[in-house]
Amino acid sequence: MSYIRYKNNNLFVENVSVRRLVSKFSSPFYLYSEGNIIENYKSFSNNFKKSNPLICFSVKANSNIQILKILKKMGSGADVVSGGELLKAIKSGIKPNKIVFSGVGKTEDEIKLAIRKKILLINVESENEAILINKIAGKLKKKTAIGIRLNPDINAPTHKKISTGKAEDKFGLSKTNLISFCLNVKKLKNLKLNAISVHIGSQILSENPFKKTLKVLEEIIKRTAINFKFVDLGGGFGISYKKKDKKINLKNYSILVEKFRKKYNCNIIFEPGRAIVGDTAILVTKVQYLKKGSNKTFAILNAGMNDFMRTALYDAVHNIIPVIKNSKKNKGPLEFVGPICETTCKFVKYKKYQSLNQTDYVAIADVGAYGASLSSNYNTKPLIAEIIINKAKARIIRKKQDIKSLINQ
Ligand code: LLP
Repeated sequence: MSYIRYKNNNLFVENVSVRRLVSKFSSPFYLYSEGNIIENYKSFSNNFKKSNPLICFSVKANSNIQILKILKKMGSGADVVSGGELLKAIKSGIKPNKIVFSGVGKTEDEIKLAIRKKILLINVESENEAILINKIAGKLKKKTAIGIRLNPDINAPTHKKISTGKAEDKFGLSKTNLISFCLNVKKLKNLKLNAISVHIGSQILSENPFKKTLKVLEEIIKRTAINFKFVDLGGGFGISYKKKDKKINLKNYSILVEKFRKKYNCNIIFEPGRAIVGDTAILVTKVQYLKKGSNKTFAILNAGMNDFMRTALYDAVHNIIPVIKNSKKNKGPLEFVGPICETTCKFVKYKKYQSLNQTDYVAIADVGAYGASLSSNYNTKPLIAEIIINKAKARIIRKKQDIKSLINQ
């Protein structure tokens, strides 16, 4: 079921017409479908049902506490990468024994917090981090569960800026270093090595790199002869931003995962972010001005790269769809841009688009993951509102930031 669709040429999120909302709330704003989030979670979980994995939603993809609460209700845990995300996950009701903490640069304070809260795993990304955790755990007199993150040196076909599993990337330990770490870990008396973890990148649309990763994990398990309690396979499952994007076949992958789980008698953890929330939101924005360029028309929106960074940062293509469809054509190419004083503050360019007027509303599609969570106050612009729809009801889950809080510092 599609939760974001047209009815009689009017864009709807669940049972609410976006046109009606723009008369109530000032744009721009993020607009989510709760039903869509729930359905994505269920479908992800169903794919891997046989393996009964712990699903730790990757909070960096969307850290709105109301969204975390929805996922908590579905049974989700959390993958966090900072003290702030950890506290937010706990505040949303997610139990510490369902939280894993990754990241190459955890600070002393963040490590103390994670130890005190007794989270499921601190996923360690270097030998020196393990030494520091061991020291802090000793002082706090708390034996601490860790996972060790593997860098499998696998080139997952995705944007070069979101790949994490190649030898040149800063994440995890190389196979050789990880094996030697495992064989010496007993010296770190305050740690329990409960897991091996891996995450090879984001927006991956083929099962192959995941299959290769399982092979590397098998080799390590054999060579270290460690029976890891948990194997954390990370996130990275891509979604279709463009019609021609192929779909990842999670069913095929799930068969391999289940075989692996049985063979090594371990519990599986996943850390999906984008696959759960990516397609569940649009960013509703107004055409502030139309301007004739020398060979195209600019549609200058009231939302910019401060509100939605993915295009400026990764050249990501997100469709922009009209709030009300018409059948008239715009003359010549049209480029959607934002107001920020940077050339990269632009979105998508169309050869043909429907006829558009100033003050019309449009929506940037598929912005639920790494949309609001990557937004900023650049150009001293307030963070915009986030609204969620459940059937016919709209609820504000983040108020537009008060400009006063911005101008005093
Ligand atoms: N686990 C770890 C350790 C990660 O580093 C990430 C994402 C995830 C899980 C979740 O990955 P996902 O399932 O969402 O692909 N801002 C970029 C994506 C950066 C991803 C960073 N790590 C973007 O907008 O494409």
